[in-house]
Amino acid sequence: MMYPLNRNRRLRSSSPMRSLLQEHQLTPNDFIVPLFVVEGKQLEEPIPSMPGYFRLSLDRLEKKVISLWKKELKAVLVFVKVPEALKDNKGTEALNSDGLMQRTIKTIKNAVPEMIVMTDVALDPYSSFGHDGIVEEGKILNDPTVAVLSQMALSHAQAGADVIAPSDMMDGRILAIRKRLEEAQFHDTLIMSYSAKYASAFYGPFRDALDSAPGFGDKKIYQMNFANRDEALIETQRDIEEGADIVMVKPGLAYLDIIRDLKNTVQAPIAAYQVSGEYSMLKAAAAQGWLDHDSVMMEQLLCFKRAGAQLIASYFAEEAVELL
Ligand code: PBG
Repeated sequence: MMYPLNRNRRLRSSSPMRSLLQEHQLTPNDFIVPLFVVEGKQLEEPIPSMPGYFRLSLDRLEKKVISLWKKELKAVLVFVKVPEALKDNKGTEALNSDGLMQRTIKTIKNAVPEMIVMTDVALDPYSSFGHDGIVEEGKILNDPTVAVLSQMALSHAQAGADVIAPSDMMDGRILAIRKRLEEAQFHDTLIMSYSAKYASAFYGPFRDALDSAPGFGDKKIYQMNFANRDEALIETQRDIEEGADIVMVKPGLAYLDIIRDLKNTVQAPIAAYQVSGEYSMLKAAAAQGWLDHDSVMMEQLLCFKRAGAQLIASYFAEEAVELL
């Protein structure tokens, strides 16, 4: 059929018509709220490169999760800022059952038992080298790192985490974590794997937030080359075979093609991570009056759904649900 029998603009002729024909929607169920936690009391530390985002001490965090729950947000993804003195090359503090992460999990579960608590599993915040793994002679060791990560995951599960989120990109870590969880009878703990995680300059502000920038070199020897597309399918397929329940693409907006590839190929829910640099770019442009903050924010978030993401980790989550 062709013009004039077909006029596509009829489908857009009024707001109610557009609503009826809208293919995708955002709801509070789409979001994962990343949270940064610090030691201390009554702290709400601004992160200069992430305007409007804060590192919270546990007492403030408690209030925050109660307010998130009231807004119908149902999942948080926890990151901790580890004091310099506790960092080493073995992830010792990561395994401390009374460490900041473990206390954070308990605090959230006490405040809002139904809140889905997801935890970042990677060594970088705990590493004196700022790398996601154990370092030896300038190399990031795979298997010794995986051994620590699986213990770390178990420690989070024991503290009450619902979802373990390994963000390190070591080989075989999903299998090791799954086996350890099963052995310890944590049959119901989910793994959300950062399966297609690219070596990206968009992570800059996050590394400011956690003081976790690599001390030497970069992360290209474990995170993926952003020139690659097929590799994302291979990585993701392997993680699913190893026992991942949810897979993730990261960063977000520049990688929507990868989300769609996975949506068309793999049999698992897909999460997208709209990362710190994406947040900061919009905040900066809006502060200059160059972009309309709320409209661009909602457009970007909805586009993740259209691309095929079932879940979106976003620093905008709270602001976005207020507009829904
Ligand atoms: C740690 C981790 C990073 C992010 C999430 N988990 C940083 C990195 O890999 O260097 C980035 C998140 C963001 O930029 O918002 N492994």
